[in-house]
Amino acid sequence: MEITLKKLHIIGTGGLAKELIGYIEAETERRYIIVGCWGDEEFNNPMFSNFYKGTIKEFKKNYNQDESIIVAIASNKIRKSIIEEELGQLDATFESYIHPSCEINPFCEIGVGCLLAPQVILAADCKVGNHTFLNTECVIGHDSVVGDFNCLFPKVEICGECIIEESCTFGIGSLVLPGIKMREGSKLDAMSVLRETISESAMFVGNPAKAVKIFN
Ligand SMILES: CC(C)(COP(=O)(O)OP(=O)(O)OC[C@H]1O[C@@H](n2cnc3c(N)ncnc32)[C@H](O)[C@@H]1OP(=O)(O)O)[C@@H](O)C(=O)NCCC(=O)NCCS
Repeated sequence: MEITLKKLHIIGTGGLAKELIGYIEAETERRYIIVGCWGDEEFNNPMFSNFYKGTIKEFKKNYNQDESIIVAIASNKIRKSIIEEELGQLDATFESYIHPSCEINPFCEIGVGCLLAPQVILAADCKVGNHTFLNTECVIGHDSVVGDFNCLFPKVEICGECIIEESCTFGIGSLVLPGIKMREGSKLDAMSVLRETISESAMFVGNPAKAVKIFN
């Protein structure tokens, strides 16, 4: 039986876009064909130059709605502004890429435009919003809700029954203990352990993680 590959555009030409290209090209059972990568700068390594097709402005002129898009840019702020402002009028179809090695409980929800790198685990009844990036070996515990536009670097664990609002960033190896709520735009430093709910949006550092800077 002939398998139809999904046509995918990648917005971004940095490290995350390179990672995504590698995941897709290494799949033994191909699911995607990369139509092009788009961004204002070319890749910094000619190895990827065949994938580069032009600027986001040029992408908008060439886009067909039967093709899917992932914005593979780790910065929540930049990712959000590209999706909401630059691509806002496009009526775009966003794809969530889930690496074949991920363990996704059948009773969980994943939004659109997400990128789940190898060996991510999603436990029962958790929810991941739109355009959220879970890097390698991240774990989202049961009944947790991770909102839109979040970025989890490798090996982050959000334990069960947490609520992570929009646009939070988690450094490598950081941990959020069960039942904690994190406000929109918060950041948790690498290897830090958040053990209590703080009502403000803040930068948290250490174990136990403390708010070192409250955001407006
Ligand atoms: C979570 C993380 C990504 C946030 O980094 P960031 O977005 O650059 O955040 P910043 O360092 O700008 O810190 C945010 C604010 O808190 C302040 N801050 C950070 N650490 C602080 C400290 N120890 N004491 C006081 N203030 C501090 C900063 O000055 C900044 O303030 P500003 O907004 O007024 O400029 C970073 O802490 C981290 O963990 N980096 C590791 C990334 C990683 O895992 N990479 C692996 C990729 S594979």
